[in-house]
Amino acid sequence: MTAPKKLFIKTYGCQMNVYDSERMAEALGGQGYVETKTPDDADMILLNTCHIREKAAEKVYSELGRFRGLKAENPDLKIGVAGCVAQAEGEEIMRRQPLVDLVVGPQSYHRLPELEAKARSGEKALDTDFPEEDKFERLKARPKAARGPTAFLTVQEGCDKFCAFCVVPYTRGAEVSRPVSRILDEARDLVERGVREITLLGQNVNAYHGAGPDGRDWTLAQLIWALDGIDGLKRIRFTTSHPNDMDDALIEAHGSCAKLMPYLHLPVQSGSDRILKRMNRKHTAESYLRLIERIRAARPDILISGDFIVGFPEETEEDFQATMDLVRAVRYGTAYSFKYSTRPGTPAAERAQVDPEAATDRLHRLQALLTEQQRAVQDEMVGRELDVLIEKPGRKPGQMVGKSGYLHAVHIEDCTAARGEIVRARIVESGANSLAGRMI
Ligand code: SAH
Ligand code: SF4
Ligand code: F3S
Repeated sequence: MTAPKKLFIKTYGCQMNVYDSERMAEALGGQGYVETKTPDDADMILLNTCHIREKAAEKVYSELGRFRGLKAENPDLKIGVAGCVAQAEGEEIMRRQPLVDLVVGPQSYHRLPELEAKARSGEKALDTDFPEEDKFERLKARPKAARGPTAFLTVQEGCDKFCAFCVVPYTRGAEVSRPVSRILDEARDLVERGVREITLLGQNVNAYHGAGPDGRDWTLAQLIWALDGIDGLKRIRFTTSHPNDMDDALIEAHGSCAKLMPYLHLPVQSGSDRILKRMNRKHTAESYLRLIERIRAARPDILISGDFIVGFPEETEEDFQATMDLVRAVRYGTAYSFKYSTRPGTPAAERAQVDPEAATDRLHRLQALLTEQQRAVQDEMVGRELDVLIEKPGRKPGQMVGKSGYLHAVHIEDCTAARGEIVRARIVESGANSLAGRMI
């Protein structure tokens, strides 16, 4: 038997890239690769990249440069670039960085075994197709490892919404939903391997419309109710949702499905109707606020999370104040805020850009407000009794760490529960980034 080859994968970007990295490791597992935690002794290095903002994309080139020494030491080392930068700039990467042997896009990585063989034979291997075949189906038979209590499961990919700032419709392609039966099979398999919580993923996960066993297209709410029937699966989450795809049944499920966790990531981007229109978001600030009201009517304690962009082309101080007003009206439990980044090929790239210093100043003001809200929502957990899914041992002896339904990390001292168990805990303290709880 030959010694296994070592694979080092570094993942950037969203949760869908995390899921894809797992699938790529499985695909190469069939070629005799096992994962390693450092690039130093790897036979193959794969960067799974993100193209969403300029900074993320540029990082790839500086990271690649750092592997020069390793490649000099080990000429058999193969270096690959996967993910959204691979999709957007594949040929340019090959030209700019001769160290790269292999480039594979997010829709063709089930072909990694062939691409790896090509790279091993000394040729450059590039595949950024959008093939017809179901990549997940092709990957299904690969060797699989035991799992921790939480897992991601991609159910939908791509996006047809074309927000004026965003590269995703170009890097991930058109919106596609996986069939219900395949998702249920994968979920059951995950549960058999120890998973207790599944987060359903999609760039627009609530636009899900996969083929159901009855021959009709199912909605995300229908899929969630089917997953609810899997014994051993304790918690269901989904991300990322678009406000225009929150249908009544999904809102209702937040009120009545006990396994569906009280947390919703619902990006709005801006609170100014003028900017929302220019962003091609097809909703208003008011319609978003009404939607949040309906969701809270179904599930009053739900924790709302959001994404914001400041400094979008043509944004004025008044537009920015409308975003601040919306944030005050919603009261977010978590939020991600970004300075607009010009992305080549997107409509907004052609427009009048906001002064970068003004944008930075707005970002700081927005983040101060969001941090204050986040803090307040977390502090309000003190005194409550919550279910905590135990994920791993903490730093102190006898301590375990898990997550509440609201996705706050909870540290529990003298915890007798094991990984994967759900314990009832009283929250006694709210720290910098986590809560402290005591078992009841
Ligand atoms: N599909 C999701 C989010 C995809 S990208 C949605 O529709 O909401 C994740 C976040 O990155 C976005 O919500 C947005 O806030 C941010 N983002 C996307 N493009 C960006 C850009 N060009 N500049 C800055 N932030 C951006
Ligand atoms: Fe990008 Fe908009 Fe699609 Fe989200 S909905 S992935 S922000 S284009
Ligand atoms: Fe980034 Fe691609 Fe995800 S651009 S955010 S890795 S879909």
